[in-house]
Amino acid sequence: MALRTILEFPDPRLRTRARPVRQFDAELGVLIDDMLETMYQAPGIGLAASQVDVHLRVIVIDLSDGHDQPFVVINPEILTREGDAKGEEGCLSVPNIFDEVRRAAKIRLRWQDRNGETHEADFEGMMAVCVQHEMDHLEGKLFVDYLSDLKRERIRKKLDKDRKERAARAPASGGGARRAY
Ligand code: NI
Repeated sequence: MALRTILEFPDPRLRTRARPVRQFDAELGVLIDDMLETMYQAPGIGLAASQVDVHLRVIVIDLSDGHDQPFVVINPEILTREGDAKGEEGCLSVPNIFDEVRRAAKIRLRWQDRNGETHEADFEGMMAVCVQHEMDHLEGKLFVDYLSDLKRERIRKKLDKDRKERAARAPASGGGARRAY
């Protein structure tokens, strides 16, 4: 396994629309394992392949504290959405920025696992939010797109400043108790 570099806003490669996975082969397995390792190391609770500059419809999520419940979501499709939930989100591609985003509270999802098997299930709470956030990445969309132009521009400037400071200092802690994806 190997760590991959996570692209950061406003990198234009994050705007690429991901292609469906057709080959469930060893190369896909390597990508998934690398994505999990990269997500755990960040640390984060979700990662889309788009964030490591691989434009395939692959998502990994793990909401467990022990990093022992990896959920691999390939070619996801939301079949139904219900309700409304507003919560604070963060993103590994927008480090240390957190803001409120409105999402569906409950979704029915169809997806394939790493072996190409198709599954369908309902998700709510944090898992539903995380799936919707990661699926946005596959469309080239970021959570900051839901914020005002003014806020987004402020975030862009802050990240730019942080990157310059990072060159001279130790990396930031990653937002303390808050979790990014
Ligand atoms: Ni994200």
